[in-house]
Amino acid sequence: MTAAPLAPISRAACIGGGVIGGGWIARFLFAGIDVKVFDPHPEAQRIVGEVLANAERAYGLLTNVPLPPRGRLTFCDSIEEAVADVQWVQESVPERLDLKRCVLAEIDAAAPADALIGSSTSGLKPSDLQAELTHPERLFVAHPYNPVYLLPLVEIVGGTATSAATIERAKTVLDAIGMKGVVIAREIEAFVGDRLLEALWREALWLIKDDICDVETLDDVIRYSFGLRWAQMGLFQTYRIAGGEAGMRHFLAQFGPCLKWPWTRLTDVVDLDDALVEKIGAQSDAQANGLSIRELERIRDENLVGIVQALKAGNGGAGWGAGALLADFERRLQPMAGAAPALDIEAPLALVETRVSPAWIDYNGHMTEHRYLQLFGDTTDALLRLIGVDMAYVEAGHSYFTVETHIRHLDEARLGETLRTTCQILASDEKRIHVFHRLFAGPEGHEVASAEQMLLHVDMAAGRTTPAPETVLARLRPITAAHARLPMPEGAGRSVGQKKQAAAAE
Ligand SMILES: NC(=O)c1ccc[n+]([C@@H]2O[C@H](COP(=O)([O-])OP(=O)(O)OC[C@H]3O[C@@H](n4cnc5c(N)ncnc54)[C@H](O)[C@@H]3O)[C@@H](O)[C@H]2O)c1
Repeated sequence: MTAAPLAPISRAACIGGGVIGGGWIARFLFAGIDVKVFDPHPEAQRIVGEVLANAERAYGLLTNVPLPPRGRLTFCDSIEEAVADVQWVQESVPERLDLKRCVLAEIDAAAPADALIGSSTSGLKPSDLQAELTHPERLFVAHPYNPVYLLPLVEIVGGTATSAATIERAKTVLDAIGMKGVVIAREIEAFVGDRLLEALWREALWLIKDDICDVETLDDVIRYSFGLRWAQMGLFQTYRIAGGEAGMRHFLAQFGPCLKWPWTRLTDVVDLDDALVEKIGAQSDAQANGLSIRELERIRDENLVGIVQALKAGNGGAGWGAGALLADFERRLQPMAGAAPALDIEAPLALVETRVSPAWIDYNGHMTEHRYLQLFGDTTDALLRLIGVDMAYVEAGHSYFTVETHIRHLDEARLGETLRTTCQILASDEKRIHVFHRLFAGPEGHEVASAEQMLLHVDMAAGRTTPAPETVLARLRPITAAHARLPMPEGAGRSVGQKKQAAAAE
């Protein structure tokens, strides 16, 4: 059985492969979409390659659920060649209306008439971008946030000529590839996100110019306080809580009048003269403390992954905000992961393939202890999906719980090494599955650990074990029967310390 593709499109073009274009390329490729790129920069391939390397690293940290087979990346010599047969064109060239209009006209002339055309512009109105196009109805703004491969939001903004169908199709594609397409009701310059950011930035520049604080103090004020709140509740929900039990109405009554006090300098624009540029530049250099942009990018990515994962575990495990979005994306990826490999049941089942990511390394430089349990847990989850115990099954009230685990650590796994696990079913009956997992690392596949586990089928509402239904047992039995013909794996049936005792007795 071939799994349905993740995205409703399979071919995209990215025109411009800089900071933002590179991020879009990664998003599309990792969603299994082929991408054609045009960027006249002589080093475009190297720059895109570096963004892709960062994106791959970040995805390795973000999720263990296997992504679809990666799309094919092709660099083209012209816009015409890049867009000829694609379903989505993403324009990410520098922020100049004349340049964007020229590039969009070329795209419009060469792309199929029904291809969607998204512009990454940070603030230009789509009506101004589409004015001279032959098919203006398929042009819209798809404004992402850097790094595009990790931050899910895309502001979708239509111009006067954009069709409702275009907006709907764009949102469907973005949501399918794990992004969060938000439709902005009416076009204005800078849309919503950059309106807010500009207001904050304008105020921040005054605070530095007037020596109220330096850039590091200003950043600390954000990141140790409301920055933490914003990532999970934004502005209005945060203020609702700040209003106490009386909520938003009380908050507005209490703090609304302050807006009329002359606290901020919002509409004044600071003169970014040489002195101020140098002052901010020097303070920013000192703040970076020798870290390069690439190093800062990696730190940023690791932190963002940590925040998104914390949000995934939030709200009592149901997920919250960007974390709930990731959980939903993983739920949609999982059936594809279960259906993809053609498994040979006459051998231990090859269930998980991944790589040792930087976050898994401990102070010894090796994969840290709890990641072994995570990988064996992922292996068990993959087995359960194979026999029909997926998220829908769990949501309907039944599951298998792990009631016993014995892990043996046999060797070390190092940063970046490939990892694969196998699962041998030692026995199963109506309620139980007794499994023996093995973990192999590196190109030669040296065995680094094994785990023996007992799983019990449970009725979660009743809180007790119960026989699995025939639909599950019918898939389980042939595997158990085939595995009964395999030799008992070395290390099965051991308990803690047994190996030592056996050696001592020899
Ligand atoms: N940097 C951000 O944080 C950010 C965030 C959201 C949106 N944007 C928007 O994304 C767009 C791109 O910004 P960026 O930060 O990636 O800039 P960038 O300078 O990093 O990349 C622009 C790329 O476009 C290429 N280019 C120039 N002329 C071209 C042409 N005629 N055809 C194809 N490629 C061409 C350049 O070689 C360069 O690689 C802008 O509209 C910007 O406003 C930027």
